[in-house]
Amino acid sequence: MLALLLCGLSFALPPFVRADACKDVSLQNEAPSAGQPFAFDCTHPPLTSGKAHVTWYKYPSKIPVSKNTQSRIHQEQNWILFLPLTQEDSGIYQCVINGTDTCHRIHVNLTVLRKDWCGISGNGQLILSDEYKQIQILHEGRDNSLTCHLNFPQSCVLDSLKWYKDCEEIKGERFISWEMKLSVSNVSAEDGGSYACQARLTHTGRQYTVLNSITVNIAETNGYAGRIPKIIYPKNNSIEVQLGSPLIVDCNITDTRDNTNLRCWRVNNMLVDDYYNESRRIREGFESHIFSQKDIFYTVNITFLEVKMEDYGHPFVCHAGVSAAYFILKLPAPNVQAYLIGGLFALVGATASVMYLYSIFKIDIVLWYRSAFHSPGSKEDGKVYDAYVLYPKPQREIQSHEVDTLVWKILPEVLERQCGYKLFIFGRDEFPGQAVANVIDENIKLCRRLIIVLVPESLSFDVLKNMSEEQIAVYNALIQDGMKVILIELEKVKDYTAMPQSIQYIKQKHGAIQWSGDLTEQSQCAKTKFWKKVRYHMPPKRPPPSFSAQPLKHMS
Ligand SMILES: *[C@@H]1O[C@H](CO)[C@@H](O)[C@H](O)[C@H]1NC(C)=O
Ligand SMILES: *[C@@H]1O[C@H](CO)[C@@H](O)[C@H](O)[C@H]1NC(C)=O
Ligand SMILES: *[C@@H]1O[C@H](CO)[C@@H](O)[C@H](O)[C@H]1NC(C)=O
Ligand SMILES: *[C@@H]1O[C@H](CO)[C@@H](O)[C@H](O)[C@H]1NC(C)=O
Ligand SMILES: *[C@@H]1O[C@H](CO)[C@@H](O)[C@H](O)[C@H]1NC(C)=O
Ligand SMILES: *[C@@H]1O[C@H](CO)[C@@H](O)[C@H](O)[C@H]1NC(C)=O
Ligand SMILES: *[C@@H]1O[C@H](CO)[C@@H](O)[C@H](O)[C@H]1NC(C)=O
Repeated sequence: MLALLLCGLSFALPPFVRADACKDVSLQNEAPSAGQPFAFDCTHPPLTSGKAHVTWYKYPSKIPVSKNTQSRIHQEQNWILFLPLTQEDSGIYQCVINGTDTCHRIHVNLTVLRKDWCGISGNGQLILSDEYKQIQILHEGRDNSLTCHLNFPQSCVLDSLKWYKDCEEIKGERFISWEMKLSVSNVSAEDGGSYACQARLTHTGRQYTVLNSITVNIAETNGYAGRIPKIIYPKNNSIEVQLGSPLIVDCNITDTRDNTNLRCWRVNNMLVDDYYNESRRIREGFESHIFSQKDIFYTVNITFLEVKMEDYGHPFVCHAGVSAAYFILKLPAPNVQAYLIGGLFALVGATASVMYLYSIFKIDIVLWYRSAFHSPGSKEDGKVYDAYVLYPKPQREIQSHEVDTLVWKILPEVLERQCGYKLFIFGRDEFPGQAVANVIDENIKLCRRLIIVLVPESLSFDVLKNMSEEQIAVYNALIQDGMKVILIELEKVKDYTAMPQSIQYIKQKHGAIQWSGDLTEQSQCAKTKFWKKVRYHMPPKRPPPSFSAQPLKHMS
């Protein structure tokens, strides 16, 4: 039983113990005036940045402060809000930060002061009481600013800010009030004194007046040392941005707590809000700040609704007191890689299409080129004939007749008469009585091409009477001269395997041209597809050699 009891106790104890195990992290003193709103934010980075649970208590009560926004004193998010503050609210307030497995506590010692700033004096003037005041410093001869530090949660709307000096509203050219700031240009010693900033605060439809007293001391300009604000960003850098896109750039600044520096964005040495007062295309954002131990971290942004061409290359300068830093907008650099790849694709595409077109129109292009740029200066190559015509003597009567028609009539008609080539046709051009082998051997050397006419089946060269003629010719053409061979199929040859290997080789390498046309037709035209192909394979035409006679005949 005892063990059980102890065990139960040990389970019951920890939360009780932990309640007191909350770690006190800080004690802060606050001394606001009664009769006006007051708020305190329980922030303690990094404790309050995560999923921490914040609860406010008024010591020594264990009952949390109400979260009802209609309550005069209530908690909103991490804030405790007094709307308004009364003298009786003085005391110690605790903010308990419950993390997942940690507990921290912040104490706030609130001393509420009497509300008699700017009481009515005998001569009807407002008099500021000498109670707790913030101290801000202005530097003689400089342009400085005072800040109205009004810290309230977002549910509180602050507006209608007014500035007072010695209880009189401030007016004059040297003073410009904007947002929570009062800028003072050309500060002089007379600017020192008691200031107050007053604003209207609206919360859940109810209005309050909030007032901050500030004691302003004037410092000699050389007193600047050590209080130069530091601009963390921008860093005189450039920012790449697309034309027409929106843009927000933060100016991040750290400055001392008691600073009086003016922070703003300028372009062409004018406040951006003034410079773009008509279009309001570029605006300065409201300044936000975060307190740290000694410094205040400020952020003030500049918002471009839309980047325009005129914005590029201009410095947009963030000023913080004597410090300044700018950024310049730049058009994004073109994506070099994309351009390269695109260019490459375009090039490959263009090349492919040119090659495709060339493959289709190759023959026409070459023939046109030859006719257009007939080269009169071609070298004399010692040849007499443009082509040696080699043809079979088929046994079947019809085929034999066809071959004869082609070789004896049509080839000379088109290639010789119309195109001006000179052919050597066996049985027409040789010297009578010459040995066949000699005729071929010697004449073929004088030809630039070898035309072989093929006829299927009966055409198997081994049935030809003139075995030697064919063999010598092909041998000479292929081996000795590297001469080009033109195969003309009189009919479609389906089976080349019966042909000699040399013919098979030529067919494989250069292909064959198939006769298309009518052998009985009288007029042949050199412009048909078939003849264009033949002409394409023929050598370019040369000027006729000066000695037009047949040297062979002379020689013999
Ligand atoms: C915060 O933690 C303390 C101690 O662990 C506990 O007593 C308290 O109920 C917790 N509060 C909330 C709101 O979670
Ligand atoms: C709270 O502040 C008042 C006035 O500054 C001071 O008299 C009092 O001792 C402080 N209390 C604590 C607990 O620090
Ligand atoms: C600044 O004020 C002084 C006198 O207080 C005056 O002499 C000087 O001309 C002023 N400078 C500017 C730029 O207004
Ligand atoms: C400026 O400060 C803000 C916080 O206020 C932060 O989000 C931003 O990243 C900072 N920018 C730079 C460039 O440091
Ligand atoms: C904008 O500023 C110019 C020069 O400061 C002024 O003339 C003009 O009236 C202003 N426009 C508006 C709408 O405030
Ligand atoms: C810029 O400032 C405006 C006005 O203060 C604010 O509403 C906005 O959230 C800020 N933008 C960024 C990105 O900080
Ligand atoms: C940026 O330029 C300003 C002048 O506009 C200069 O005073 C400042 O020192 C420069 N800052 C850096 C980091 O170069």
